[in-house]
Amino acid sequence: MHPDLGRDSPRPIPELPGGTPLLGHLSAMAAAPHLFPVRALAAHGGLAAWRVGPRRVVAVGRADLARHVLVTAADRYPRGAVNRNLGTVIGDGLLATEGEPWLARRRALQPAFRPDRLHALAAATHAVMDEVLARWQVGEVLDALTEARRIAIRVIGRALLSLDIDEARGAAFTAAVQQSLLHLSRRNWSLLRLPLWVPTPLHRALLGTRRTLDDFVGAVIDARLADPGAAPDDMLAAIMAGRGHLSRAALVNETKTLFVAGFETTATALTWLFHLLARHPGWAASLGEEARALGRPPGLSDLRQLPRIAATVEEAMRLYPPVYNMGREAAQDDLLDGHAVPEGVTVLVSILAIHRDPAAFEEAARFRPERFLGEGAAARRALLPYAWGRHQCIGNHFADLELALVLARIVGARRLLPVEEGEVGLLGRTTLVPDRPIRLKVAPLARGGGAPLARGEVPPA
Ligand code: HEM
Repeated sequence: MHPDLGRDSPRPIPELPGGTPLLGHLSAMAAAPHLFPVRALAAHGGLAAWRVGPRRVVAVGRADLARHVLVTAADRYPRGAVNRNLGTVIGDGLLATEGEPWLARRRALQPAFRPDRLHALAAATHAVMDEVLARWQVGEVLDALTEARRIAIRVIGRALLSLDIDEARGAAFTAAVQQSLLHLSRRNWSLLRLPLWVPTPLHRALLGTRRTLDDFVGAVIDARLADPGAAPDDMLAAIMAGRGHLSRAALVNETKTLFVAGFETTATALTWLFHLLARHPGWAASLGEEARALGRPPGLSDLRQLPRIAATVEEAMRLYPPVYNMGREAAQDDLLDGHAVPEGVTVLVSILAIHRDPAAFEEAARFRPERFLGEGAAARRALLPYAWGRHQCIGNHFADLELALVLARIVGARRLLPVEEGEVGLLGRTTLVPDRPIRLKVAPLARGGGAPLARGEVPPA
């Protein structure tokens, strides 16, 4: 029992009305796992409880409560079934583990993510963007999500493994990962969770994806183990050279984890960035000026000179956090703002609800990137696209850099115009994706917009 529990009589967490006796709010959660918690939390002051099948869920939609769960009292809220489930496909890597095994791995991998190691990423991003911008013909209509996925898979392929993942392989790979993540999220909420060895079509698909990933990553790792001297200077090399001397199996699992964790999230963030550029042409033009004022494609050390671009990335992820929910398990009784959290419940942190909380962000539903400029530090107190605490995303600097560089390259060379007007809604899949295709037309820079940024140069790190 939590020591504070004896002192005051804790209040119960507000219980969401409705739901059916057997399923609780399962069907509403399955239909809209992103919006159902946001609405429930808005109606109950940022803290609410409901049942999903046999499981009790306590949802949190306020920054102070999320900080308690993820940082201050993180020992009481380890990761639970959702993350363990991920391990089905990506193995016992950083995303699927907890406690001592997780900590040892995190320490082993951290050096590969130090900011000074990100030069390989900057070079990879520029090489990919050179090709992308050469391909984007003026007048062409693009599908935002498809383009974003193409960019993200090629960048991570190069930065992590020095592999150029071609279109066909990239598409097959992406489809396999997408499918399995979708199946996994269904399995998470399912009432009947059979063991994986039961040969259902779903389990066969999951194991098939695992094999595809294992074969792909395993072949790269075997080649490196066979001839360590020939390894290129990329993130995998940094991981293999780092502390901890990971076994082959551990290397395979961590590499799969980084690939899966780093690809879909970044692709989603890029999709929304493209959308916002098209919907806010005046702001996009001002970003173009900022990018061109640098006089060269930006490198790692230039980000501080691109405050508007950095603020745009932050605002895009505030409005559209790729990871919209996070799951934890209450390992013991606790108190959340005077409310009793019983041991064993699933705690859902709704990043989307926190980012759209009007008490934390003025005009929370509007795209206002200036909130992160100048006095912007205050706005950052409720910003957690990469989570907070011990499990904060290990790839946060990686993603920030990639997103800023892609954005700078695009606004420095082209305009993206919306093809269809009208609202674009949200869909809660593995990440938060648009509810319909976003088509964008490639246009030249406006007259007076200056010369496009030079292509082909890899800037200094
Ligand atoms: C916009 C892009 C990204 C977003 C929004 C994002 C978001 C997140 C979030 C919210 C978590 C915490 C999950 C939890 O604890 O339940 C996380 C963890 C993680 N992310 Fe990211 N991520 C992004 C990009 C990346 C990239 C590029 C990589 C690797 C190359 C990566 C690798 C990881 C790993 C390994 C973890 C587990 C960390 C740990 O528990 O120690 N992510 N990410």
